[in-house]
Amino acid sequence: MLLAVPKYGGGMADTLSWPKKSRELCNHHFDSTIWNDLKIRDDDIIISTYGKSGTTWTQQMIAQMIFGGDPDLSVAEMSPWVDLRVPPKAVKLPEIEAQKHRRFMKTHLPVDALKFSPQAKYIYIGRDGRDVVWSLYNHHSNANNVWYDALNNTPGRIGPPIDPPPEDIREYWHDWMDKDGYPFWSFWDNVRSWWNIRNLPNVMFLHFSDMKKDMPQAMRRIADFLSIEINESRWDRIVEYCSFEWMKENAMKSVPLGGAFWDAGAKVFINKGINGRWKDVLTDDENAAYENKMIEELGEDAALWLKHGGLITA
Ligand code: A3P
Repeated sequence: MLLAVPKYGGGMADTLSWPKKSRELCNHHFDSTIWNDLKIRDDDIIISTYGKSGTTWTQQMIAQMIFGGDPDLSVAEMSPWVDLRVPPKAVKLPEIEAQKHRRFMKTHLPVDALKFSPQAKYIYIGRDGRDVVWSLYNHHSNANNVWYDALNNTPGRIGPPIDPPPEDIREYWHDWMDKDGYPFWSFWDNVRSWWNIRNLPNVMFLHFSDMKKDMPQAMRRIADFLSIEINESRWDRIVEYCSFEWMKENAMKSVPLGGAFWDAGAKVFINKGINGRWKDVLTDDENAAYENKMIEELGEDAALWLKHGGLITA
């Protein structure tokens, strides 16, 4: 289903109001304060998602388009998760500042915990919350002691540690639903905060389902938005290096720390790449509870987009 929401409707462009940072978000994963010290460049690209929504995939697309289809790019290294508190900002900031190529960084923060730049470009990727949790469960249940040690024992953690997940994915689902994203962060806050700024000219919305439906089209849209000039003679290669199959086979290059956080390695992270794995597990009542909550939290338009995807057009 295509949802066409006018991007600059209602005279928005004349009365732009830029998001302001209004809070810090710190937990076992996050240190949002790093954004206070990062000097944003005008050509920076920020890839934002709640998590488990196609972040790595989008980083790969952008890297391949900027660098003209290079199978050896270490995208995870090139494209840091800015607000992850590991390594600490004293280590991470100088690394980011030292980058000489066009920077493309990722965040999982709601927009009001960032310092937002009117010049940089922001790409937000959405995915159905049920697909997100199914992906998150895979990520979390396969994590090894290196992951727990890094998140729980790197100095500076605020709030409780993260513990291993329950055996039963339905219990995990209920915790996430009932405790506002537990043991991670609020999904609704994240989607709502970005949805509210979708009309800004330097913000682009993409949906995981649309990337699945037509990846080359999604890539062309990204290239247009970021003013990346595509090397057409390399296009087939560029697309190939962003396919699920290629990324799974070469997961060490795009997955954080080459997959060191998972005993089964980086391939675990590029897991199935499909939606709807919850359909045979959640009951009709559980699905209805999710959908009602989604509308209550986000409103009808955002809920419709989050469920089905579709273009948010200029
Ligand atoms: P699944 O766990 O459902 O398979 P993120 O990078 O935001 O953590 O998202 C990870 C999800 O994106 C995983 O979903 C992963 O398989 C999927 N993904 C990564 N690369 C992909 C690709 N090229 N095509 C389809 N899905 C991809």
